[in-house]
Amino acid sequence: MSKLHERTLVIVKPDGVARGLAGEILARFERKGMSVVGLKLMRVNEATAKQHYAEHKEKPFFGSLVSFITGGPVVVLALEGQGVIEVVRGLVGPTSGLKAPGGTIRGDYALSMQNNLIHASDSLESAARELELWFKSEELVSPGQGSGSAIRPWVYSAEDQKK
Ligand code: PPS
Repeated sequence: MSKLHERTLVIVKPDGVARGLAGEILARFERKGMSVVGLKLMRVNEATAKQHYAEHKEKPFFGSLVSFITGGPVVVLALEGQGVIEVVRGLVGPTSGLKAPGGTIRGDYALSMQNNLIHASDSLESAARELELWFKSEELVSPGQGSGSAIRPWVYSAEDQKK
């Protein structure tokens, strides 16, 4: 796959949706130049939540995390762009809203470890697993066909576009 077409999964969690921050959060990714290739508002069932957070199932906060994510609608995004997994994690900031620096999404809008507004895949492997868990293939557009295609020649250099 072209490096420009790397993909990641982002979830605006129930606190972000309830607080009316989904549009603001989406705008940050759009303004960075990345492309939206999947987008939906949905309720998460317990089985999907448990699968999503399976690596944390032994942690003391697992039950609370599952209740939280299933407690209200979420907005799920698939984003595409050069280095998008790492770039999105940088824009989101560290896990705790108390520690996240200003300028990051959590730093600007969150004051909690659990109610930290947003989830973002942390590696190529987790992005692939999570995209498959949250989106059916027909819900995602083809590489290069997402939002912002008209600005792509301005976001990327000619050199970038060969990658
Ligand atoms: S850990 O402990 O290092 O694995 O945690 P981390 O990878 O930073 O966080 C994983 C997800 O668990 C959530 N989390 C918590 N929820 C409730 N209470 C506590 N104490 C807590 N600590 C971590 C955290 O928000 C992460 O959620 P996602 O959706 O992956 O960002």
